[in-house]
Amino acid sequence: MTASELRTKYIEFFKSKGHAEISGKSLLPENDPTVLFTTAGMHPLVPYLMGEPHPAGVRLVDYQKCIRTGDIDAVGDLSHLTFFEMLGNWSLGDYFKEGAIKMSFEFLTSPKWLGIPVEKLAVTVFAGEEGTNGSADIPPDNESARVWKSLGIPENRIAYLPREDNWWGPAGTTGPCGPDSEMFYYVGEKPCSPGCKPGCSCGGWLEIWNDVFMQYNKDAQGSYIPLARPCVDTGMGVERTVTILTGKKSVYDTEIFASTLAAIEKASGYRYGGDSEKDRSLRIIADHARSATFILGDPKAVSPANVGAGYVLRRLIRRAVRHGRKLGVSMTGGAPFLSPIAEVLIAQMKGPYPELEQNRAYIIEEMNREEEKFLDTLQKGEAEFEKLLPNLLKNPAKIIPGRVAFRLYDTFGFPVELTEELAVENGLKVNRSEFDEAFKKHQELSRAGSEQVFKGGLADHSEITTKYHTATHLLQKALRMVLGDHIAQKGSNITAERMRFDFSHSAPLTADEIACVEAIVNEQIKRDLPVTMEVMDLEAAKKYGATALFGEKYESKVKVYTIGDFSKEVCGGPHVEHTGTIGTFKIQKEQSSSAGVRRIRAVIA
Ligand code: ALA
Repeated sequence: MTASELRTKYIEFFKSKGHAEISGKSLLPENDPTVLFTTAGMHPLVPYLMGEPHPAGVRLVDYQKCIRTGDIDAVGDLSHLTFFEMLGNWSLGDYFKEGAIKMSFEFLTSPKWLGIPVEKLAVTVFAGEEGTNGSADIPPDNESARVWKSLGIPENRIAYLPREDNWWGPAGTTGPCGPDSEMFYYVGEKPCSPGCKPGCSCGGWLEIWNDVFMQYNKDAQGSYIPLARPCVDTGMGVERTVTILTGKKSVYDTEIFASTLAAIEKASGYRYGGDSEKDRSLRIIADHARSATFILGDPKAVSPANVGAGYVLRRLIRRAVRHGRKLGVSMTGGAPFLSPIAEVLIAQMKGPYPELEQNRAYIIEEMNREEEKFLDTLQKGEAEFEKLLPNLLKNPAKIIPGRVAFRLYDTFGFPVELTEELAVENGLKVNRSEFDEAFKKHQELSRAGSEQVFKGGLADHSEITTKYHTATHLLQKALRMVLGDHIAQKGSNITAERMRFDFSHSAPLTADEIACVEAIVNEQIKRDLPVTMEVMDLEAAKKYGATALFGEKYESKVKVYTIGDFSKEVCGGPHVEHTGTIGTFKIQKEQSSSAGVRRIRAVIA
């Protein structure tokens, strides 16, 4: 069975049961600030589920394009999708549990319709719960269980499950909701035991359809208000149902994805096999290209942006492009990668979704534009990550400090999600809460004033203090790499026993940040970089990118010390000739020095 045949059968079946076919709606919900996308077929019907009369009557049927991004990180496995189609039938105060379940059973099992053997099916019903905040108890849904049993579903294939499993809605934070009864298909070899049913740890049951009994409206205060007119809302996943009906292991093995996978194979020269990392990339591209094509093809034209639905779109396009590169697609030849895949999707889906054809030019243009923008960002961000990687790997906790990720974002526009992906690929993890905090502080960050003059300095010009002095340059650059470009030197004090280095930064360093900074400094020492000096005009030094407290302190001619490819600083010297002579650098202490200024005490051994 194909998706097209399934859509047709479903509509035909429910029409034969007195339902009026209505058209699916936009992917961008109307007048609903609680969600970014239409996440279910019921979404555009919320006003009618809440009591408004529908012009087409009280029995409705349709197919609806949906996007759910909650599991975007799981996309790439064999089953998760961000874009999917949902078939739905509705009763607006007409039939309720018995009517809905009987029709679902007939459509699933009748040889005239899907003809699924009863022994392959199992169902769930709501287990009930005690009322909270003074609301009444909700009893177990024995009525649904009774109807299922009367139709031939045996007792041991009916699972009573709690709210986490058997309660649906609202789609956003407020709206219609209620207990549901879900239908499952057994995708394993054979149920693991006579009592094997949904919820069983063998994981063999796949949900294909959900009958929701809309009885409540959840209001902004979180209270459940009974609806004057209970309704039925159902949703059958097209992709999943086609998968089980055709006996495939994965949605990606069905005809739904055949032409998309072929287009990606053509663009990449890689042949889909099923279970390697590259196959995972291929699936991510297929899913994301599909979602992006549908979002761009929606009549409510969204374009890639940094907030809201546009941000999700941007992320989908950018993630697909990145995985294209992983497949070895050369992105430098000027030919777009994603839009030819969109062309294939438009051709495949324009029958049921004519808006794709109508908006073809917009889809292609926006996709190409975003791809180009991203390639530029990617090149810069990934090169920087690669540079940091050897040092990040030295942190035994395998954590990338949030500030490192923030700097990649802030300086290179490199999305934190991609830093997280690169981290995982290298056995590391980004400290996300730290990133979020840095992101929040971003706006408030008080810029270091340039009025402070350089204090302290070298105690003498002995060999050891010279080593310490070069180490301060390495440290300053490492701090900027880890914490961000707002780091400015506020002072240094060097003796033969230790160095102290003060710098503008508003928060204590975490253990991970310290570990990273240390690793970066030691890496430069190990690389044995040459240290060279050149006298330049102050203007030339600025252009050259040398770090300095540019202000009155400098003469018009300055000395610039360059340490290999790592650091450039305006400084009077002296310095070692090669970093390899410095020894091992160790941070002993990190503390506050004054408001907005931190102090590091470090030794070399
Ligand atoms: N609205 C219900 C669902 O999405 C049918 O599962």
